[in-house]
Amino acid sequence: MIKDNLMDKIVSLSKRRGFIFQNSDIYGGLANTWDYGPYGVELKNNVKQAWWGAVVHRRSDMFGMDAAILMHSRVWEASGHLSSFSDLFVECKDCKKRFKADVLAGKNNKCPQCGSALISKPRRFDLMLKTSLGAAEGSSEDVYLRPETAQGMFVNFLNILDSRHPRLPFGIAQIGKAFRNEITAGNFIFRTREFEQMEIEYFIRPENADKFYKQWIQQRFNWYINLGIRKENLRKKAHSKEELAHYAKACTDIEYNFPFGWSELEGIANRTDFDLRRHSELSGRKLQFFDARTKKRFYPYIIEPSGGVDRSVLAFLVDAYREEEVKGRKRVFLSLDKRLAPTKVAVLPLLKNRPRLTKLAREIATDLKKSFVTVYDDTAAIGKLYRRQDEVGTLYCVTIDVQSLEDRQVTVRHRDSMKQDRVGVDRLKQYLREKLVSG
Ligand code: GAP
Repeated sequence: MIKDNLMDKIVSLSKRRGFIFQNSDIYGGLANTWDYGPYGVELKNNVKQAWWGAVVHRRSDMFGMDAAILMHSRVWEASGHLSSFSDLFVECKDCKKRFKADVLAGKNNKCPQCGSALISKPRRFDLMLKTSLGAAEGSSEDVYLRPETAQGMFVNFLNILDSRHPRLPFGIAQIGKAFRNEITAGNFIFRTREFEQMEIEYFIRPENADKFYKQWIQQRFNWYINLGIRKENLRKKAHSKEELAHYAKACTDIEYNFPFGWSELEGIANRTDFDLRRHSELSGRKLQFFDARTKKRFYPYIIEPSGGVDRSVLAFLVDAYREEEVKGRKRVFLSLDKRLAPTKVAVLPLLKNRPRLTKLAREIATDLKKSFVTVYDDTAAIGKLYRRQDEVGTLYCVTIDVQSLEDRQVTVRHRDSMKQDRVGVDRLKQYLREKLVSG
């Protein structure tokens, strides 16, 4: 069963093949902190590029931006994070593990780790990470690492209006790092203290809030399906009133069926005009839209689809993981969508100690690299080379054999079907281009 130990398999494949490594591994690791390796960074970039293409480049009502991580401290006063972005936590006096206080609710107030009833009183825990600016002693200023990228877009609302003159509805999108002092980080890259968000702030007339809220939920749901996530592994879950964040009137999560259970991948919230009003109050600048027709200014409402890059990467990895038996042996491959696959082509000489053969293979790889993300590998026997490429989801393996020296034809092996085509070297680029465009 693939589902058995699926997380362990993903974590192990990620390390073995160069997707994701434990951070600071040689020093014993920094807990719940991960580094993306050669294939991981390609996959992550492809996820971000697919998002940017869908929500910025292919739309005419969206503007991209990239705000700084550090912001004026009043931003967090206005957003409400300084007063309400905290969790209640308890500590087990026996095993010293910390938990969110609400975790104990279904556990008879006993420690979920060791079962002890010696639990501390709930204490408040600030979720924002603090650092200081300014080198001189006594003159440094406390600043926060942003816990969401959203505020960078709200405080630039007037800059976008003044520089791009959009009409409503319009949106701002950005991808960037966010930081939270999570009490219970874990599940690999699912919940970490440093992570990346892909967020949209979509500004609308208040009376259209429900329409755009529903529209965005569906559009974001479809984005995951379109990139290969199986429909049965994705669902929408509306928040109850008690679950809503302090700024939201409504929120629906897109959840993925992770090996550890259904969990949030992205949230789509109706943030009303909360943020624009709060920043207007505290900054003294009116973050309003001028309606040229009615000659009136008003605060637009905001629909916010907010997703996690790392969680998406994990969902795409989990969903793409396949095991099958081929000629009595287990084959593991990642059936990633062609837009997400970290490497599109691998060039593999059938024999590694034939200089004429490896020379031709290298020439072909160098040429393909100009058009596709291509790797060259001659460090093992062909069976092993195929296995490596399958495990990282490479779409096409181009094999150069002795016959290729005679007839200048190569074998192209397709990742999912393992079907093989014989293709002329002169036609190879065009052949791959057609495959990559059409599927
Ligand atoms: N601006 C709204 C906002 O930040 P959120 O639900 O707290 O809302 C949005 O976060 C998304 O960011 C989540 O759906 C998740 O994908 C990602 N995310 C949040 N906290 C995370 C963490 N500790 N580790 C990894 N991803 C996280």
